[in-house]
Amino acid sequence: MPQTNRQTAAACRRAAGCLAMLALLGACEGRQAVLNPAGQDAAVIARLFLGMLTGAVILWLLVAGLFLYVTVFRVSHMPRRWAESLIVGGGVLFPTFVLAGLLSYSLPLMSSQRTGGDGLVVHVRGEQWWWRVTYETPQGNRAVSANEVRLPAGRRTEFRLTADKVIHSFWIPALGGKTDMIPGRETVMTLEPAETGLFRGQCAEFCGASHALMAFEVETMAPDLFDEWLRHAASDAVPPATEAARRGAGIFAAEGCGACHTVRGTPALGRVGPDLTHVGSRHSIGAALLPVTAADLALWVGRTGHLKPDVEMPQYDHLLPDALLDLGRYLEGLK
Ligand code: CUA
Repeated sequence: MPQTNRQTAAACRRAAGCLAMLALLGACEGRQAVLNPAGQDAAVIARLFLGMLTGAVILWLLVAGLFLYVTVFRVSHMPRRWAESLIVGGGVLFPTFVLAGLLSYSLPLMSSQRTGGDGLVVHVRGEQWWWRVTYETPQGNRAVSANEVRLPAGRRTEFRLTADKVIHSFWIPALGGKTDMIPGRETVMTLEPAETGLFRGQCAEFCGASHALMAFEVETMAPDLFDEWLRHAASDAVPPATEAARRGAGIFAAEGCGACHTVRGTPALGRVGPDLTHVGSRHSIGAALLPVTAADLALWVGRTGHLKPDVEMPQYDHLLPDALLDLGRYLEGLK
């Protein structure tokens, strides 16, 4: 076999291997899978994808069959009239009908994307590289959180999306399509989860060095549990319960953390970074980067720049490990 043929064959094998790996990886994580829908909006998208895929496979088989026919079974010259009708029929009429068919199949599917919400409004703002999340109920209740979204199952929630400096894209694959978040503009979308569970969202627009580290947890809850959670989320922080946590609260105040972070019910009222009032009851810190334990919180505060390149929060590596751990214990206790 000549050298170039061998190289081509090896490249093909590598590409096939990569595709198989991707397919396997895609099937692994059901929490962030488009083809594992947990809501009406995602189900519509999955149906559209499978419809389009079926159409594409049929078309590919037709074209491949035609190619085989003319190269293997009918190598003699084709009469000019045949060739012309093939170009007009296969190149103009056939695609026109196929594309019109696919368009008329897909357009009605978009109507659910424009359905209004049932009352709850969730404002999400894309920051560098985290999510500012504010809940607003028709009764006027308001709760500020970050880096996770909780939703009542069986109710349609309205999202009002915007961004701080650059364009981000809000995407919960298991619940619906992605929507861009644009600085200076508010985009609106609605989602209706059909089941309770834990899912994962991800920023879907390249937004800088830590774009890949800009994810969030999504918990869909029974409506009464959600209402209870929202009341708790709107309440003030609990005071530190242990000696270590009290020392941590002192470090938090002394280091000026309150200039950037809010802990409601305390003098910390900063609005630059995430609201930390109930950070201890979240599913993750650092936008789905680490679990919420005292050790991980200490790691995050001391090594922000290492864990998330170009992050705006300075790393407090001048603090001794014990002080960082006390700080972690204070934050972990903010349930
Ligand atoms: Cu935010 Cu990518």
